[in-house]
Amino acid sequence: MKLAFFDAKPYDRPHFDLLASERGFDIAYYDTRLDPGTARLAAGCEAVCVFVNDEVNAEVIDKLREGGARVLALRCAGYNNVDVRHAYGRLHVVHVPAYSPYAVAEHAMALLLTSVRRIHKAFIRTRDFNFSLNGLAGFDLHGKTAGVVGTGRIGRVFIDICRGFGMNVIAYDKFPAKDAGIEYVTFDELLEKSDVISFHCPLNAESYHMFGADAIEKCKKGVVVINTSRGALIDSEALLAGIKSRRIGAACLDVYEEESDIFFNDFSGHIMDDDTLARLISMPNVIVTSHQAFLTEEALSNIARTTVDNIFSILDEGACANELCYQCGKVGDCIKNRSGKCF
Ligand code: NAI
Repeated sequence: MKLAFFDAKPYDRPHFDLLASERGFDIAYYDTRLDPGTARLAAGCEAVCVFVNDEVNAEVIDKLREGGARVLALRCAGYNNVDVRHAYGRLHVVHVPAYSPYAVAEHAMALLLTSVRRIHKAFIRTRDFNFSLNGLAGFDLHGKTAGVVGTGRIGRVFIDICRGFGMNVIAYDKFPAKDAGIEYVTFDELLEKSDVISFHCPLNAESYHMFGADAIEKCKKGVVVINTSRGALIDSEALLAGIKSRRIGAACLDVYEEESDIFFNDFSGHIMDDDTLARLISMPNVIVTSHQAFLTEEALSNIARTTVDNIFSILDEGACANELCYQCGKVGDCIKNRSGKCF
């Protein structure tokens, strides 16, 4: 088996190299992202491995198929960058539904604590031997209300962490879990009651810009917003306006709606073309990390193992529990998928 691996980073390779030697297959690593211009690099490979910002549209899918690919393996959970419907009958699309919900949930809390206790400010000050505390006053999380949007694997770990801090937790989910001991409210109620709002739902047509100007208007003044899910859940322009109007007290962003041409690359020494991102980063109450919430050794190892297992399941057995359903684009809730194969 030969695997074409796009958007390869140094931290990916050791985990995949180990599995390639254990299971006897070849990997062609490409630093470049997959898009219509680079798809031909995968010619001769039965499997193609991509990440969150690779562009897997209809044109790319056709080119991969022409080149002999049979499996498109996402080494991530989200798949909003893949035309799953067009892939039907052309490529099997598999993903890694869970690799470490702890990695993402813990990063969300790390961002929250950094923000509310001004650690990002203090770190820079003390490195310059500035030991002044002026402007560093934060607030206790204990007793505050956390509103969690999306109560799947990551959202639930985040709920547990918040409860550990003595926070009251309310949640909104399009498909509330029964008997989960979670207090569900409507999205509007969550906006009105929460001191902290954290997004843990997938990006789709319905959730696109769910946190826009209207939603921001309904928030408590000074709300802290955390997004470790997908950038386009939040309308960045509206967020910026909300920060300027002081409605938003702080924003912690691991994802950004226009991140695909920016994140994972070093632009220090360059002029930042994206004015919205530049303005957000310039704010004292905004913390941006570049889609690193998943980045723990445990998660990287689990991602590599599940990705390789997914590929061999399809190539050897013709089926895989982590294959995406082309009809609903989901794993789990799809009735057809419960039979083990969705099409
Ligand atoms: P999951 O599938 O276990 O849970 C998602 C939850 O969102 C489900 O309970 C679902 O019912 C709910 N949901 C779906 N549509 C909704 C809507 N319109 N409004 C409210 N809730 C809705 O997913 P998991 O594993 O918890 O991951 C959540 C998201 O985190 C992923 O979709 C992915 O985009 C993001 N993620 C980000 C990472 C990072 O490094 N920043 C790493 C891994 C995932």
